[in-house]
Amino acid sequence: MTADIRNWIHIGSLDDIPRAGARCVKNGEMTIAVFRTVTDDVYALEDRCPHRNGPLSQGIVHDGCVTCPLHNWVISLETGTAQGADEGRTLAFPVRLEEGRIFIDLSFSHEAV
Ligand code: FES
Repeated sequence: MTADIRNWIHIGSLDDIPRAGARCVKNGEMTIAVFRTVTDDVYALEDRCPHRNGPLSQGIVHDGCVTCPLHNWVISLETGTAQGADEGRTLAFPVRLEEGRIFIDLSFSHEAV
């Protein structure tokens, strides 16, 4: 059996986020965008596009990605990595969904490049 060493924090419920939309939560100075896909998967990224810090929470959610509202970079919701020819990465946080309640591990993230 593997011990769960993560530090899960309850940040709200699935119903708080519109489908194909996002809601922001603060972690100190950092804003984290929590996304809900049309199939009710949930992801959490720092709300800063790796291009020029655009607000990813205001982007379009589609196909496991979000398109930045400023210059249309496409960012993976799972890894925070820019897709296609664009290069860069924003922080991505582990998310757990339990009976409609959303938990994020803010102590762990995929490091920005
Ligand atoms: S700031 Fe996101 S694409 Fe430019």
